[in-house]
Amino acid sequence: MADTDEIKSRLDIVEIVSERVQLQKAGRNYKANCPFHNEKTPSFIVDPSRQSWRCFGQCSEGGDVFNFLMKVDQIEFGEALGLLAQRAGVDIDSGRDTGNTNLQFEINNIASNFYQEALVSPEGSVARAYLDKRGVSSEIGDKFGLGYSPRGRDSLKTHLSFHGVDLGKAVECGLLTESEDGVTRDFFWGRLMFPIHDRQGRVVGFGARALDDAMPKYINTAATSVFDKRRTLYGFHLSREAIRSSNEGVIVEGYMDVIAAHQFGYKNVVASMGTALTPEQVQQLRNIASSYVLALDQDSAGKEATLRSLETSWKIFEDRARTRNRDMFAYNPIKLKVLSLPEGKDPDEFMRSGEGDWSKVLESALPVMDYLIPVLVEKFDIQSLGGKERVVGALAPLLRTMSPFDRDDYVAVLAKVLDASPETVRIALQKTPFRTPRGHKDSNDSIDSRIEGSLVNTYESEDKARNGIVESKSIFSKRPLGVDDHLLRLIVSRPDLRTTVSDMNIEADFFDRTEDKELYSLWMSVDLKEKEEFEAKLDGILKVRYQQLTKNSLPPMTLAEAQMDLDYRARRVIRNQLKLQAHSIVTARDGVETPPSDKDNETLNSINKQIMETENPLRYSK
Ligand code: UTP
Ligand code: MN
Repeated sequence: MADTDEIKSRLDIVEIVSERVQLQKAGRNYKANCPFHNEKTPSFIVDPSRQSWRCFGQCSEGGDVFNFLMKVDQIEFGEALGLLAQRAGVDIDSGRDTGNTNLQFEINNIASNFYQEALVSPEGSVARAYLDKRGVSSEIGDKFGLGYSPRGRDSLKTHLSFHGVDLGKAVECGLLTESEDGVTRDFFWGRLMFPIHDRQGRVVGFGARALDDAMPKYINTAATSVFDKRRTLYGFHLSREAIRSSNEGVIVEGYMDVIAAHQFGYKNVVASMGTALTPEQVQQLRNIASSYVLALDQDSAGKEATLRSLETSWKIFEDRARTRNRDMFAYNPIKLKVLSLPEGKDPDEFMRSGEGDWSKVLESALPVMDYLIPVLVEKFDIQSLGGKERVVGALAPLLRTMSPFDRDDYVAVLAKVLDASPETVRIALQKTPFRTPRGHKDSNDSIDSRIEGSLVNTYESEDKARNGIVESKSIFSKRPLGVDDHLLRLIVSRPDLRTTVSDMNIEADFFDRTEDKELYSLWMSVDLKEKEEFEAKLDGILKVRYQQLTKNSLPPMTLAEAQMDLDYRARRVIRNQLKLQAHSIVTARDGVETPPSDKDNETLNSINKQIMETENPLRYSK
């Protein structure tokens, strides 16, 4: 038996799914609101007999317990395999030293318990007093596992030795330091200890706060094989469920902010570990809720951090909308907002000040664009030479991903703020080149390469542009061409296909992008003998798109050949569209415990028939 089959045979998918999703019994299956998209009617089904799951809604995805865990926890196959194997008690040779990893968790756990005990011991009184002063209840302190590292520099060491822990391993965990002469001592001492957990709630490291104004304020565990700051969100193991169920997450900066929020009953709060949000952190968040609020400090350093965080996050959040939403008629990106607290307070200070209601103040968070416009106007000094261009340039990547209507709205706002006409803003927008990805050196996935613009470092890219390094490319050039792109390209490149196109009943909704729908409708509505007139009608975005589509000429084809090509491409697009329709019928059913109605079955059959028919050429009069 293969490893994965053996693991599956020992586990129950219902049990594993129900740890993360609230399941209800539905006939012989279980159902729930899909954890991977936002919905009101449950279309997520777990089938115990087949040990599988499927979302019959927007995602229309499914699979086994492995890919469920990978998706829900945003982990790689290897990690899911490791977790499930361990749970099933199956030994797998994953090539990774899981033994050592487990040992590190175990040692961290022993240390965490030790610090917690020290907090309630006589020598911990100074730390208890500090927590009292900050208003942290002992209940919430317990929940977060807060502790105290005694001042003697070998108390943890002695404790670990007593428990038979290999001190070399404790050095690897960052708990002890080893001096050159080989003497080991405690790394943390005299500080308030914050254990840092991974998603599964295992202790991966510690943050340690000074109890007075000593610098540095916090000392954190250095990177170890189980602790990577970039992948960690403080408090995530305690916040994930609340983020999921409220469909909103709040991202703050500090440990103390998360703790205060939980104490005040706001459990959907995590901290970015004091740095700008990383792509790895965003990846873990984006699938569990559709709205996020960044509540980072808003002093000038904080503003810069917010800009950096936005730069990393909005594009990845946006991407979720794109990949998850296969429905070509819907556009439903994650709402990303920025909260500026009054008088530059941090969330902890704000909640404890009693000045206002956190849930109320959250409502004052601004959509990203509304936050950014004034911040960038100030940052780039619009009275200076090139200042206005810089503002538009920094916003260009965001504007470009918006629906044309939203974009229009913001172009108007921007025009007002910059004291220019909307037309001028549009021209400036068109002139903004696509930027080369900034690319974090240490990132090995493709996410960074999708970050096209920079809110932080626009100077660099502009210089490159001036030197001709960054070619001003079409704004669409980054996306791979899909079947509908090829279809539209053929249509607008061959005016002589016009009658064939209308005979084939090709509709604007065949095209995925709003721009393409508009371009197509316009193309079909004008008299093509007046091609200049058509081109004149195109505004910025449509024009760029049109130019991109027609830039490279198609291989020479006779009309008959072009018709065949058109037919082939149109059928592929129709086929895709029919598949989507089939999914949406399954989705539209209210509840799922009942088998599809006869009517639904009939429609589904008819769609299947139509899908089969797309094997044959479309009928049109020659
Ligand atoms: P803050 O200075 O806002 O800390 O730094 P805080 O959590 O609000 O703590 P208090 O309220 O002053 O006690 C935010 C985060 O930045 C990281 C920590 O993760 C901290 O929670 N940080 C800050 C460090 O790692 N080292 C430092 O010296 C300071
Ligand atoms: Mn603080």
